Amino acid sequence: MQNNDDSKTKYTHIPVLAAPFIDGWLTDPDGCYVDATFGRGGHSRMLLSKLSEKGRLLGLDRDYQAVKEGQRLEKEDARFTMCHTDFAGMEHVLADIGWSKVQGIGFDLGVSSPQIDQAERGFSFQKEGPLDMRMNPDEGQTVSERLKSVSERDLVKILRDFGDERFAGRIARGILKAVHAGDMETTKQLENICFHATPPKARHGSTHPATRTFQALRIWVNDEYGQIETAVRCAMKHLEVDGHLSVISFHSGEDRRIRDFIEAEVHPCKCPREFPICVCHKTPTMAWVQKKPIRATEDELDGNARSRSAMLRIAKRVA
Ligand SMILES: C[S@@+](CC[C@H](N)C(=O)[O-])C[C@H]1O[C@@H](n2cnc3c(N)ncnc32)[C@H](O)[C@@H]1O
Repeated sequence: MQNNDDSKTKYTHIPVLAAPFIDGWLTDPDGCYVDATFGRGGHSRMLLSKLSEKGRLLGLDRDYQAVKEGQRLEKEDARFTMCHTDFAGMEHVLADIGWSKVQGIGFDLGVSSPQIDQAERGFSFQKEGPLDMRMNPDEGQTVSERLKSVSERDLVKILRDFGDERFAGRIARGILKAVHAGDMETTKQLENICFHATPPKARHGSTHPATRTFQALRIWVNDEYGQIETAVRCAMKHLEVDGHLSVISFHSGEDRRIRDFIEAEVHPCKCPREFPICVCHKTPTMAWVQKKPIRATEDELDGNARSRSAMLRIAKRVA
């Protein structure tokens, strides 16, 4: 495990949509809860402040720096337990600590501000750093390593599917040319390729030409969509009836996956509309508490630019 520790540095994370997220997550102050994306623990601390002495909170994160922060909170608050895992390991962690059912699970998806702000993590095109982007730097390959073995066709698909990138073909060709020349090791090299592969008229809009490519490659290298699927399945299995699932996402691809998954549980009946009665007998296991995403208020936007794209959906288990 790497040991650089950001706890005493300037790297902090302001929790987004804090009040509605906590309200959507907490149903019983005596209950057991999971914060599946602990980050720097902003949301966790708020939830703990509303739990009784009996209440319990489990924090999870795949990032070792987040885990270090969680281990500090464990020492301060006996109701809290921190585990280093990705969503795929959530099932095992719950089994290990003996929680078969929980009253609420919260997800604040994506990356934290400290991950973006630390140049050496390679998430930001605004800072020169190694082209890494792994949330757990001890696992898997960096973006620059993965790019050495991807085909042009697959790369175009990654940029389109995970980044909605209009100029996916041009950017993919530019990236692979640089990979073959040995020039795709740093964030600034990738930023430069994205900028020059984007047609001049589209280079100076409100979104930097590298934004979508960085998003797409981050989702790819961390298997974020595969992780989300595993996570919501696990959440469904372990949520108590009346327990809440509260999810913050930051872009349409994430939000769509969450919405579609919950919607399939809310409306499981697949009988043709013209059937007078349901014959499949599939009944809802979830109900929306908040279907239309909650967004940041103007006040929150003023204090935290990161909240601009945040969308919160809340659902509860009904059977
Ligand atoms: C937006 S931050 C959460 C911030 C947190 N709510 C707070 O108040 O500090 C997202 C966190 O989730 C973690 N994360 C993202 N995907 C994950 C996954 N698949 N498994 C475990 N942790 C994940 C990231 O490492 C990051 O620390």
